[in-house]
Amino acid sequence: MNASSSVLHAIKPDGAFDVERIRADFPILKLKVNGKPLVYLDNAASSQMPQQVIDRLVRYQTAEHANIHRGVHYLSETATAAYEGARVKVQRFINAKEAREVIYTRGTTDSLNLVMHGYGRAFIGAGDEIIVSQLEHHSNIVPWQMLCEEKGAKLRVIPCNDAGELLLDEYRKLFNSHTRLVAVTHVSNALGTINPVKDMIATAHEHGVPVLLDGAQAIPHMKVDVQDLDCDFYAFSAHKMCGPTGIGILYGKAALLEKMKPFEGGGDMILSVTFEKTTYNVIPHKFEAGTPPIAAGIGLGETIDYLESLGMDRIAEHEHNLIVYATEAFKELKDVRIVGTAREKAGVLSFTMKGVHPHDVGTILNEDGVAVRTGHHCAQPVMQRFGIPATARASFYLYNTMSEVDALVAGIHKVRKIFG
Ligand code: ALA
Repeated sequence: MNASSSVLHAIKPDGAFDVERIRADFPILKLKVNGKPLVYLDNAASSQMPQQVIDRLVRYQTAEHANIHRGVHYLSETATAAYEGARVKVQRFINAKEAREVIYTRGTTDSLNLVMHGYGRAFIGAGDEIIVSQLEHHSNIVPWQMLCEEKGAKLRVIPCNDAGELLLDEYRKLFNSHTRLVAVTHVSNALGTINPVKDMIATAHEHGVPVLLDGAQAIPHMKVDVQDLDCDFYAFSAHKMCGPTGIGILYGKAALLEKMKPFEGGGDMILSVTFEKTTYNVIPHKFEAGTPPIAAGIGLGETIDYLESLGMDRIAEHEHNLIVYATEAFKELKDVRIVGTAREKAGVLSFTMKGVHPHDVGTILNEDGVAVRTGHHCAQPVMQRFGIPATARASFYLYNTMSEVDALVAGIHKVRKIFG
């Protein structure tokens, strides 16, 4: 099935978003959990897949599979064309200048680690500094700590205010002649804060410092233009944007990628090998050793077709309406604290309830089919900043509805009733 034709029905003649028609594309949303309709509000952890993408994966496996870049036979050429075609779709989706600036990885974590190994280990040394923020996911902290430990470099941290917004004056003060990299999240997974990354990148560039953005929570929800942002690296995953697990992207400016060392050695990343010397392949292949997740890459291409057919601006608007509605409803709830109240926020609602552990909140919500994530969300420094061990987190996506927000609120009333 062709995604663009099949989703046309999801946009009303007046251009509005028809969420009920969109939901029909997602078979999993028809599930009943504990006898209740599934209310899936854990999209920041992983989103669901539309039939169009599932069908594309089935078509690949049933009629197109072979290894890529390695054969002259029909199937290998078909698979290669589809996989490389998906790379071009990614390039267009993020508005990268060239397809060779798009590297396939296993996901955001892998992309961030690739920058650490390929760029960090080559260009960051003893006494150098890396700026991260207090809002980072562990995957944009731990690799840099590992590098600091290895090289004798230092992490500097941009603090945030009580709303979960980065303090830009403090950010500007962190730069000095030792600063080598800024690695920040575009959108906070724990709080939903949308960081003013374009301004932050401009500041870093005034100091000649490159910027790596963790885009895992941004790219599924808003239009991202890497040339307009002028970021040097951008990392994201397919599985948070209705695509398959096991595949992600590292975008990098060609000039930087050319300078970087490969992280993994093996097949496909070489031009020639002798026991005396190996010559590496050109970008992006230099960073793509071994047989990649071919099906997942092709699935990502189909996912992009699907999202583009709906329109990223429409998706962003729909989610904005959901978060505004949910926030208003939560403000009315007694003894519920919203954690993360930034003015610019994506569709993430983190909260705590007085006298109730977040895991209990999640367990009781699950009884009624409502799926939220509970815990520290792989962002323990965020929890430390707010003086809490954990939150419950509802995270919205294009297929969520206002009545699902109502179901969440009803669940919170039930939790309160049980815990008194
Ligand atoms: N990073 C993902 C989340 O926020 C797993 O849930």
